Amino acid sequence: MTGEPPARQRDWSALRGGRTRIGLGCDYNPEQWPRELWPQDVDLMRQAGLTFVTLGVFSWSLLEPEPGRFDLDWLGEVMDLLHAGGIAVDLATGTASPPPWLSHRHPETLPVDRDGRRAWPGGRQAWCLSSPVFRDRAVALAEAMATRFGDHPALALWHVGNEYGCHNAACYCDTCAESFRHWLAGAYPDLEALNAAWGTAFWSQRYGDLAQVLPPRRALTPSNPSQVLDYARFCSDALLGQFLAERDVLRRVCPDVPVTTNFMTLNHFRDLDYHRWASEQDVVSTDHYLVATQVDAEAELAFSGDLTRGLARGEPWVLMEHSTSAVNWQPVNPAKQPGQMLRNAVSHLAHGADALGFFQWRASQAGTEKYHSALLPHAGTDTRIWRDVMRLGSLVERLDGLAGTRVSAEVAILWDYAAGWALNQPSQPSELVRYGDEAQALHAALLRHGIAADVVHPHQDLTGYRLVIAATLYACDDRAVRGISDAVRAGSDLLVTYYSGIVDEHDRVRLGGYPGALRDLLGIRVEEFWPLLPGERVLLDDGATGGIWSEDLRLEQAAAVARYAHGPLAGVPATTRRDADGATRWYLATSLRGEDLDRFVSMVIAQAGVEAPVDAAHGVERVVRTGESGSYLFLINHTDRPVQVAAHGVELVSAHRVDGTLTLAGGGCAVVRQSSNESS
Ligand code: GLA
Ligand code: ZN
Repeated sequence: MTGEPPARQRDWSALRGGRTRIGLGCDYNPEQWPRELWPQDVDLMRQAGLTFVTLGVFSWSLLEPEPGRFDLDWLGEVMDLLHAGGIAVDLATGTASPPPWLSHRHPETLPVDRDGRRAWPGGRQAWCLSSPVFRDRAVALAEAMATRFGDHPALALWHVGNEYGCHNAACYCDTCAESFRHWLAGAYPDLEALNAAWGTAFWSQRYGDLAQVLPPRRALTPSNPSQVLDYARFCSDALLGQFLAERDVLRRVCPDVPVTTNFMTLNHFRDLDYHRWASEQDVVSTDHYLVATQVDAEAELAFSGDLTRGLARGEPWVLMEHSTSAVNWQPVNPAKQPGQMLRNAVSHLAHGADALGFFQWRASQAGTEKYHSALLPHAGTDTRIWRDVMRLGSLVERLDGLAGTRVSAEVAILWDYAAGWALNQPSQPSELVRYGDEAQALHAALLRHGIAADVVHPHQDLTGYRLVIAATLYACDDRAVRGISDAVRAGSDLLVTYYSGIVDEHDRVRLGGYPGALRDLLGIRVEEFWPLLPGERVLLDDGATGGIWSEDLRLEQAAAVARYAHGPLAGVPATTRRDADGATRWYLATSLRGEDLDRFVSMVIAQAGVEAPVDAAHGVERVVRTGESGSYLFLINHTDRPVQVAAHGVELVSAHRVDGTLTLAGGGCAVVRQSSNESS
């Protein structure tokens, strides 16, 4: 069930070099380099202050050069060297990318796309998510690794696979078709229930036998949206099944070592339901890369951090990978600006990371990723990047004590991957409405106000938040609706944006007027959607302008806050509020941005009693982490101007005391260990 609480996190402090320490590490691929370099690598890692490396992620073809013949000695040598150097290991099962012999012998392990084209080997991660052959082979390798290294003193964490679904998030082969039917047989009591859920009365799609059901392969029109939605669930579960098969063998062979796999909570990856995955992790870990063309890319970084913390149920998490500078997989790959690497790393910490990992140690000399930045660039140690790495290493040492402290937030933003899978399909009122855009815009607006938010699944207990935000939460099941209502009844304010609560978990419209699931709570009824054309704007009578969406809305128990000032909907409410039972329920029927959104958010948070920090300088991210060891104030200046912020304590980036006022340079960041009387 989505959103179940995970078992409590297992202790993973060995990765960080101690209970109170922050971890620092990277992917290490020694197999790409001559043996003679390995001792030098370890020396440099020590100099940089690394506490861990991730080893063996893409080593399968060297670990098992022929079927069933394992060659693990070279890896043992590396593990011994690392251990002697005091560096812990996050050891991969090595199963992320199969070796050429596997697809050569078993071409059926290669994934198939919607058009029926089988992928060729030659890249990475080319495996079908239902393949029994792949599963057996991967589990055998995981078992060999666990048996050989399970009691190695350097081993601190198991790293199963790598970024599941990065390239193989879906497969449409016949084996997957069979597994899908099996999955459906478990998900629905009978075929009639499936027919009803998928609305197969439409377009003559009624199934008379489960054997007739296929994956949503390319058809002449968009496929049945409920089928597409279930297929996304199935694929996420199939990949999770692979993870679990490997995890369970590790747990059996070495039960004391915690296990993780690195998620991709970053914005452009939404293919797995990480809420289901998170409860299976001993510690949640994720990767994050900035997208150069994205507006507000660092606000997206903060969102990803808050989402990861939500997945970890507030517990500390591992940033397994980010980059020191450029990546290699965009059309143009800009270098990070001076200071940006440090600022990004500090931002991940602010949002709850207790370890900072990078991809990768040495920039590769060959292969697809040779132009991806690393800790050690092609140009060596006499470089800006290496000096920045050393600076980060010394900051991480000063952050001793931060580990285990928590962020607490008064605002919850709801996040549901399946709602996105339902929404981001063709045949919607507007393809300009994308899942997550409004959630991220609202999160960014809160950030500009200096307010922290949790990004959580709607099934989580929401009572106690001062404000709950459902932003374009297109699909809501009954349990989500109950959870939202319970929170409101217990006193949380609620903000809902357009196109939320429209359908149930099968993508079936909730009838009687939109937004069916939340209509009564909000006291409104929408008769018809009036989406706006690209670039079209609509003026509101409070001076704001909306884009993307408008709708013909009737007030039931709510009052209008602003109305459309012109056009065919002139006089119709665009923003509404309903005050009842001690809570305010806001509805935003159009898309606001920039100052218009900031003004709207200011009004909502003031009403909710969410305290914006007195000195909040607009555009300065401000998060406090607190715990037994004290209280840490994180400040990140996203503007290009210097700003002044009140602070008392020791500022750990500069290693100076501050008493009163801290000046943050444009783009600068600070971590203040607050003096005890200031730690509220
Ligand atoms: C992912 C992978 C790494 C590497 C980086 C490059 O995070 O896990 O192996 O490919 O991307 O950005
Ligand atoms: Zn398949």
